[in-house]
Amino acid sequence: TRHLLGIKDLTPQDISLLLQTAQQFKEVLQRPIKKVPSLRDITIVNLFFENSTRTRISFELAEKRLSADTINFTASGSSVSKGETLLDTVNNILSMKVDMVVMRHSASGAPHFLAKHIPAAIINAGDGINEHPTQALLDALSMTEKHGSLEGLKVAIIGDIMHSRVAQSNLYLLGKMGAEVTVCGPPTLIPKHLAEAFNVRVEYNLRKALEWCDVANVLRIQLERQNQVLFSTLREYNLSYGINRRLLDSLGKDITIMHPGPINRGVELDSDVADSGQSIILQQVENGVAVRMAALYLLSNRQQA
Ligand code: CP
Repeated sequence: TRHLLGIKDLTPQDISLLLQTAQQFKEVLQRPIKKVPSLRDITIVNLFFENSTRTRISFELAEKRLSADTINFTASGSSVSKGETLLDTVNNILSMKVDMVVMRHSASGAPHFLAKHIPAAIINAGDGINEHPTQALLDALSMTEKHGSLEGLKVAIIGDIMHSRVAQSNLYLLGKMGAEVTVCGPPTLIPKHLAEAFNVRVEYNLRKALEWCDVANVLRIQLERQNQVLFSTLREYNLSYGINRRLLDSLGKDITIMHPGPINRGVELDSDVADSGQSIILQQVENGVAVRMAALYLLSNRQQA
């Protein structure tokens, strides 16, 4: 069985195929009738052991646009609270003739564990601090639409690199597709080994990173994943690493602002930037549906449908 567990496992050809297929589905989504029969009679379970707005809804929408049958499982309200294990939960759901699994989990490696034990195709919808592959793919589609190509594009990833699966998946993808990357944030949130492993530039000064880049992908501080306080206050973070209109206007160049969501307004991004014409944040969300349709379609055995 083939899975989409992370960008780490993909070749540049795999990534190009996913992006080209997503572009084709995006054209389908512009039509008056958006639904295609590609995954008719395929049943997909969306297993969310961790909260989500964009990923959960766009997977469900992608499945519906492909005519799949969908089941939505959230850990709260399920028998997980009675002590049922991940594997028992999934095996019980699969016994009802479910074909594919989309899973978000707070434990890094949870979908990789599952892939060793179940026969169904799995798509990772975010695992702990490890990877969020469909986010990196939708980010790549959004950057390609805006700037033409990822090859040679200068991308700054700004913020909490250490706790971000979005950063990690983007670092894999951008490296494989020939973009230039700088990571920027407080030294406490940029582990040295990560920057070295991905062979990327590290810049602790926000203005310098913004002056250098074509695209700034701004990340949220993941307070829920920090087991120690790595800077004193969010106010202090905003003063050093928050992006506001005054700062952007002083650069003398027009950079593209991205954010995976959810935004902490007034912390990493001010509203006069998030809601401006320089931001492609809602285009990213729109592209999430087409990218997830592409991933589901390519992992199903329905390419001839
Ligand atoms: N970008 C993203 O994964 O958002 P959600 O957590 O709302 O799905």
